[in-house]
Amino acid sequence: MSESESEYWDGRYAVADQLWSGAPNSVLVDVAAELPGGRALDVGCGEGADAVWLAKRGWAVTALDVSGVALERAAKRAEEVGVDIRWIHAGLLDAGIEPGAYDLVSAQYPVLFKTPDAVAEHILLDAVAPGGLLVVVHHGEFATGQSHESHDGEVFDPADYVGPWDVKPLLGDGWHIELDETRARHLTTGSGAGHASDVVLVARRD
Ligand SMILES: C[S@@+](CC[C@H](N)C(=O)[O-])C[C@H]1O[C@@H](n2cnc3c(N)ncnc32)[C@H](O)[C@@H]1O
Repeated sequence: MSESESEYWDGRYAVADQLWSGAPNSVLVDVAAELPGGRALDVGCGEGADAVWLAKRGWAVTALDVSGVALERAAKRAEEVGVDIRWIHAGLLDAGIEPGAYDLVSAQYPVLFKTPDAVAEHILLDAVAPGGLLVVVHHGEFATGQSHESHDGEVFDPADYVGPWDVKPLLGDGWHIELDETRARHLTTGSGAGHASDVVLVARRD
């Protein structure tokens, strides 16, 4: 985990007692509500709404994030509702994710720098167990290739970060796409409320 990455995100979280809506992401709820449970990995779990939702439904959840501030909030929330979650304070590339260990790998609005050899994308793909699902969701606006302004006024290029559109071309033999679509997003609370659509990729490993 780079020091600046975790410092940036700790600072981002520290501006408010709660940054996100507190509700599990709607795509995850749609995709996972009917699943039987198993081992789940939440990549960039933030304040833990998805991880807690999964754990309450019986999943054995591992959740990772670069921000210790976010993880403290997430752990507090898990304790309040009485679920056990394995928290990893690390970026995806440094987290030592075991290949083939998860029946569900979920990356909701991840912030993962692209590398020439697509390291982050391959860690996500490799983490999925045979028969398991990979769910990658990102903001529809980020698929357009246009620069965006972040919450602190910094201009960034979404093309520098991994999205579902980067993972999809890497799904070779041994994967089946279950969902590949852009859908409207209706979130009205929390820092992510300004985004109007989601790009959703759900793929199952044979
Ligand atoms: C846009 S937020 C999304 C949080 C959460 N998935 C949600 O939907 O509410 C992105 C999250 O990724 C975390 N993050 C940033 N860089 C990361 C990295 N290299 N590996 C894992 N998580 C990272 C941030 O701390 C932040 O919590």
